[in-house]
Amino acid sequence: MPQVTVLDDDPVAGVQLAALRDAATIPEHFRHHARRLGAILALRAVHDLPAVRSTVTTPLDTAPAIGPGRQIVAVPVLRAGLGLLGGLHDVLPTALVGMIGLERDQETHQARRYYFKVPPLDGAWVLVLEPMLATGGSASDAVAALDAEGAEQVTVLSVVATEQGVDRVLTDNPGVRIVTAAVDPGLDDNAYIVPGLGDFGDRLFGTPH
Ligand code: URA
Repeated sequence: MPQVTVLDDDPVAGVQLAALRDAATIPEHFRHHARRLGAILALRAVHDLPAVRSTVTTPLDTAPAIGPGRQIVAVPVLRAGLGLLGGLHDVLPTALVGMIGLERDQETHQARRYYFKVPPLDGAWVLVLEPMLATGGSASDAVAALDAEGAEQVTVLSVVATEQGVDRVLTDNPGVRIVTAAVDPGLDDNAYIVPGLGDFGDRLFGTPH
């Protein structure tokens, strides 16, 4: 699997992304589209997950079966990442969940970690849910912290990224993978992605910006 996957020619992801970008999408519908995109991103991220083989007894005979060969751990970056978690669990129901709380300083735009709680990560495939990969600072911090806990593979799932954000995460963490629905041209003066979709957390939870 490539280190960076951009689903920009995938019409199934595209229809969800267009709805999330649309300024007229209300929070109730935003949550629905975020959930669906979360499932699509998660499936893409684990499509080369090592498998364990077994058999299953059908009403007529036995059939070969396969299942996940690694523990999957989803780590939403609070709070926006929560929007992708339901969809991830729809398709990966046995995923354990950790949480990282990162707060962006409004002046410096630097991430400050205020919460970190994860299950054991030794050998796990970790999916970091960071919908807006803007400067890449939060995602990079999250990936470094998870790597240090012994994860075998860390993949960042993002809805909209920038080149700058992708470069930062890859430079800081050479083994990481990124799966994103889109890469947008750049950032505005407040480090918001343009054209982007606005503040993901505000739109998800209906908080005024
Ligand atoms: N976080 C958001 O929610 N939106 C952006 O555009 C950038 C960071």
